[in-house]
This record gives sequence, C-alpha cells and structure tokens, in this order.
Amino acid sequence: MKHTINPSRRRFFAQTGAGLLAYAGLPGWLHAMEGMGEMPKMTPKKASANFHPDVEINLICKPSSVSILPGQPTQVLQYSGKLVKGPANTLTEIPGSYLGPVMRFEKGQKIRINLHNQLDEPTVTHWHGLHVPAEQDGHPLYAIDKGETLVYEFEMLNRASMNIYHPHPHNTTAKQVYHGLAGAILVNDDEERRLELPGGEYEVPIVIQDRLFDANNQLQYVRQMHDRMMGFYGDRILVNGRPDFKLDVASRAYRFRILNGSTARIYKLAWDDGHSGASIPVTVIGTDGGLLETPVNKPYVMLAPGERLDVWADFSGRKVGSQLVLRSRSFSGVLPGMAERMMTGKHGGDDQPHGGGGHRMGMGMHGSALPVGSDYPIFTVRVTKNISDSPALPNKLSTIKHYTANDTANPNKPVPIAISEGPMRMVLNGRPYAYNDIQPSERIPFNTVQLMEIFHAHGGHGGDKAQGEGGHRMGMGMRHSNDSGDGSPKMGGMGGMGGGGMGMMMAMAHPIHLHGQYFQIFSRTVSNSDSRSYASVKDGFIEGGWKDTVLVMPGERVKIIKPFQDFKGLYMYHCHNLEHEDMGMMRDFLVE
Ligand code: C2O
Ligand code: CU
Ligand code: CU
Repeated sequence: MKHTINPSRRRFFAQTGAGLLAYAGLPGWLHAMEGMGEMPKMTPKKASANFHPDVEINLICKPSSVSILPGQPTQVLQYSGKLVKGPANTLTEIPGSYLGPVMRFEKGQKIRINLHNQLDEPTVTHWHGLHVPAEQDGHPLYAIDKGETLVYEFEMLNRASMNIYHPHPHNTTAKQVYHGLAGAILVNDDEERRLELPGGEYEVPIVIQDRLFDANNQLQYVRQMHDRMMGFYGDRILVNGRPDFKLDVASRAYRFRILNGSTARIYKLAWDDGHSGASIPVTVIGTDGGLLETPVNKPYVMLAPGERLDVWADFSGRKVGSQLVLRSRSFSGVLPGMAERMMTGKHGGDDQPHGGGGHRMGMGMHGSALPVGSDYPIFTVRVTKNISDSPALPNKLSTIKHYTANDTANPNKPVPIAISEGPMRMVLNGRPYAYNDIQPSERIPFNTVQLMEIFHAHGGHGGDKAQGEGGHRMGMGMRHSNDSGDGSPKMGGMGGMGGGGMGMMMAMAHPIHLHGQYFQIFSRTVSNSDSRSYASVKDGFIEGGWKDTVLVMPGERVKIIKPFQDFKGLYMYHCHNLEHEDMGMMRDFLVE
C-alpha cells in the first residue's frame, strides 16, 4: 500500500486561481512533484518485550471541537494523552486548549508512546528536537492509517530543553499542525535543576500561533497558491490556543518557555510596558537546545516557526495593577518585497520606489489584517499579586562544548543546503522531496561532526532593489515558465532580470530545521547587511546555544556544525515554514 498525495494535490490546484485547465498546462517539473508523492507504508511497529519503559503514554490524534472565540465552537484536530506509567507530572493538559498536553521528561528516562490514529487520514508524530533513533523519529515513512497504532520506544538523551511534538505525514504536515495537532515537550536534567530556576506556576509554556477563522468560527486554511508560496498567515494571534491571552503574575521572576507553533509566521518579540521610550530588554536564558552558557539581553528576539526561547521575565518591583505586553515589533525583508507590499496593502517598499507588482501577479495576492512584520500584541502580563521575594538570575547557566571547524570531518567542504526559490518551486538542493532519492552530498558518515552551509542558491540577496522591479514581471514569469526536462525550470519572460533572475526576486526568509541532534551556529554572513530590512531583524538572533532550527534571511549564508552520532538512518532536513515543507522543501540525510 502507498500513501500518495495525488488526490489532495489535484484538489488543491483545482481550488487555486489557476484551476484545472492551468493544471493541465503546468510545467513538467510540477507533474514530477506528483511523482514524489509515492511514500511506501511500513507495518506499524509494536511494543518490544525487552524494552522496559520508565514512562508510558497513550497518545491519541482525533477530531475534536473546542471553544476558542465567543459563539460557535471550532472543529480542530487534537492530541490527547493518557499516562499509563510514570511520574504524575509527565502530562499537563492546557485547560480549554486544542494543544496537546505538555509532556515533561527527565534525561535518561526510557519512554514508550503508543500513538493511536483516530483521524480520517494518515498521520505520524515527530519529536522535534529529540535525539532518537531514525525509526523513532516520526519520518513520514512510518505514517499510520486510521485505527492503527504505532509504538515509539526511545531513551531521552537530550539535555534540559523545550521541544515539540507534531505530525509529519507526507504532504499534510502543515494542514494537520494548523488544525491543532501540536504540543510541547519539556526535558529536565541535573545541570538545569542545580540552578533552581522558576518552576511550578512560575514556569509558563507560551505557544504562539496564528489562525484565520471564518464567520462561523471555523479554521480557514490555504486558499490559493500564494498561501503556499509565501506561507499561510492567520489574522489572529493565539497563545496556548487562546485569543487575547492574558497572564496574571506575581511581582517576581518567571520562566517563559516560548515556542513558535505557527506554520509560517515569524515574530520579532519585544516587551512593551506602555511608557514610550522605556525599552525593556528580553532576557534570554535558552534556545531550541536548552540553556545558554550565560543570559543574554536583547532589545528584541526573532522567533521563526519551530524555534524556541527560554525567557527570564522578572516582574519584581512592578506594582500590582501594572501591565506588560509582549509584542511583535515591525520589521521587513522576510517576504519578497512585492508580497510584503501586497500584504500591507502598501504600494512602495521602505527601501525602494514601489514596484506596483500586485496588479500583474495573477496569483490572487491580497492584503492581510495582520501583515507579517507589522506591530501587534502577542499577550498581556498583568501583575496582580505582590511578592517580596524572588529568585535571582544566575549569571552562569550551563556548560556548552563549542565546536570549531577542526572538530568537523569536512572543514573545507561543508555539506550544502541550498535554498532554491521560484514560483511554485520551493526546494532544497535543487530537488523537491522524494523518498529514497539520497544524493551524494546527503550521505553522512556515521558518528561524525559535519560542517554544513545553508545559503540561497540564486544568491537571493533579498535585494530590496531587484524585488521592486520583479513585481511587474511576476505574472509573465508564471505563465511563461517552461520546463527544461531535467527538473531545473527555466523561467520565461525573465529577460533583463540578470543572473539572479526569479530566484533573487523570490528571495525570502526560511527557517531551516534539521532532525536529529542539535547543532551550533558557526557563522552567519550576509550580502546586504546594510539594507534597512536586514537592519530591522539583525539584533534578534541568538547564536551562542544549541539549535535545531535557524532562520536564514535573504542574502544570508549560515554555517552550522552538527554531530551525527549514535544512530544511523534517515534524518530529514526541511524548511519549517510548513507550507514550504509540504511543497517539497525537504530532503533526507542518510547517516550510514
Ligand atoms: Cu518540526 Cu521535521 O519538524
Ligand atoms: Cu524536527
Ligand atoms: Cu521556506
């Protein structure tokens, strides 16, 4: 039996402005994308008799309905969990939320999770951030059908950190996550415990998502090709599944475990206490892969889909009745200039006289009530209780062994992760996802540490300049795109665009995620460091800790160092803009 994507993909094209007629005329490489839909199906793994779990959880995926907005409840997909064995604090429901329970594990625990699929479609769960054997990682290969159960068994090897569990089925990851399937995983260890960081009610998970509701409070999802190309953006911010989230706190220090669970939206997080001019730094103590060595104060922090932040938020000394808002502040440059202008309904970018691109897009671009990069609140903190005594922020948090190029097996030949951008084509290393299509550069020798380089294949320096002009040509490029037959499309109608051509014009930011062990950021270089767009985000990156997702801006080259230890097999790497992932902007590494 095969899981194929063909029916839904056809349906998708039928819904777009392009329609079926246009589908027939689509270039061959898109038809080839249909071929990539073949994904073998494995027999679901059963519990093994010689694995003795410390913790066992039954995890169910099912359709459900929750009240999110006033009025009618919203149909969602939801994880629900039941603890079969293990410490009572392993699962914590978030009351009234569609999000799955927060899972809390201890480093060293042996964990068994029985995943029951009660959806009307295949699913599989991936443990984003966890270092587990390839067969336990939730690769789409292991997706199960309705009624089936998949048993995961692994040992927690991660250090203290916040991770994510979410579906990873072939071509439907974004849709399932969007409709509610996601949850947080917190791992604790001794190194963290020694710090006595705020815990219990003073440690608060903050899952940030954006959603679009129709008049009947039902979730709206991808409506046109544009929603896939740029990613899908809702116009309401939800925190832990709630709109207009408010948190009542005492006047003391808190630990906010923040996770961007949006499918595409990128945030620029900053505190605002309402007093103009008063800037309150964001104190970051950890990232994707756990605690930093020392706390870092930032004016704002960029948070892309799949990324996490551990934030020390100290309200001591604040008066009862005072409020603080965590906002997303304004920035630009993560979307192609013309898309950004369409979204804001603005004609004319910041850096360049306008391209007026929208008129010719032919992609049904439209404005949004909540444009990416605009300024809007995420949630409000209200100080409601006075407490005189608060823990102090430790100045040393953890010990991190920093890799150098000399620790890698390939200091002069980084493993490439090339971002290729073009109309209807967001891929990595020039190839859309295909199972069993491992290229030479994707074979990673077992038990090595690798230097890797993520870059835009077309140079894509997000040229605030190239984009202004590009807008005019978009429609033409789309209609005239033809196929060279070798999977590398040549765009028609692009004369005069120069070497960068469509790729440069389409340059946007991509949060690139690698499964398996965390990595370190080795270097970040950018070709347009002086552009106003880049300046609006550049102080928001945190480089010093362990990561599994890194936001790569237009024009940026990011070198990372990543170990591939302990386990052989397939580990995915992909864009965590989940619409991009489902378009095929994903590949496998084979560790062997
Ligand atoms: Cu969070 Cu492969 O994903
Ligand atoms: Cu992952
Ligand atoms: Cu992407």
